Amino acid sequence: MASNKTKSLTGAKSIFVANVKGGVGKSTLSIMLARSLADRIPAQNITVIDTDLQRTATEFLSKSNPEINVEFLPITPAFENTNISLVQQFIKQNEFRPGHVAIVDTPAGSSQRLWNLVGEGYCVLIPTTLSNADLYPTENFIRSMDKVKARYGKSYPHLIVCPNKIPFGQKDFSIMAERLRNHDVVIGPPLRDLASVRHFYNGKVENWENKTNTNAQSDFKHFGSFIEKFVLGEQLDKIYSKDDKPKNVIPIR
Ligand SMILES: Nc1ncnc2c1ncn2[C@@H]1O[C@H](COP(=O)(O)OP(=O)(O)O)[C@@H](O)[C@H]1O
Ligand SMILES: [Mg+2]
Repeated sequence: MASNKTKSLTGAKSIFVANVKGGVGKSTLSIMLARSLADRIPAQNITVIDTDLQRTATEFLSKSNPEINVEFLPITPAFENTNISLVQQFIKQNEFRPGHVAIVDTPAGSSQRLWNLVGEGYCVLIPTTLSNADLYPTENFIRSMDKVKARYGKSYPHLIVCPNKIPFGQKDFSIMAERLRNHDVVIGPPLRDLASVRHFYNGKVENWENKTNTNAQSDFKHFGSFIEKFVLGEQLDKIYSKDDKPKNVIPIR
C-alpha cells in the first residue's frame, strides 16, 4: 500500500457529505470514502468530522480504522452555534496543511447555518437514490446550495450527486441526468444497493472486513479513485466553469 501513497497532493480539501434527506447514505459514504482514501494517501492526513449526534461515523471508524482522525462535533439545535464555529475553524486551519483531507458527515434536516457551513467546503457529496422520494428533496437541497454560492458569488463548492442504492445492472442514469440538467452538478460513480452495506452497521467490524463482499469493496474503491482524481487531483476545477452552461458528468466508471 505504501507505494500508492507517494503522490503529492496540492491544496488541502474539505469534503462535505450532505443532503436534507436522512437515510440516503451520508454516513455510510463518509465512512467508506475515508477508508478508501486511507489506501491512497497517508491515513494521518485524513480527518472525518462527524457532526451527526448519532455518531455513526465516529463509532465505526474508531474501531475499523483507528489511524484515521475522527472529531465528533454534533450539530444539533442545542450545540449548533459552538460546533458550527468549531468545524469552521477546523476547516480554515486545515487549509494550511497541504495534502490534508477533511470529510464532514452532516445530519439530515435543513438549517441555513448548516448550509452556510457546507458552502465553505471545496466540494459537497450529495448521496441520493433514484427514487422520487429522495430526488425531490435532493433537488431542493441543490437549489439551497446554489443560493449560498450565488449569494457569495462563489464557484465553490463543487456539487457532486452520488447515486446510491442503485439496483444491480442499472446502467441508465438519463432520468437523473435530465432532472439535474439545469443545475450545476456533476454526477459521480454509482454505488449499488448491496446487502453487505445495508447490514454493515449491525455486525462487528471484523466480520464485515472478513466477509467476501467484493461488490461493496469494488464500488467504494471505484468511488475513492474518482475522488482522488477529480477532487484531490482537482480535475473538477477543469470541468467546472461558472460562466459556462452546466456540464453534467454522467456516471464516471
Ligand atoms: N449502497 C448501499 N447499499 C445498501 N444499503 C445502503 C447503502 N448505502 C447506505 N445503505 C443503508 O441505508 C441506511 C441509511 O444509511 P446512512 O449512511 O445511515 O444514511 P444517512 O447518514 O444519510 O442517514 C443504512 O441502513 C445503510 O446501511
Ligand atoms: Mg447519518
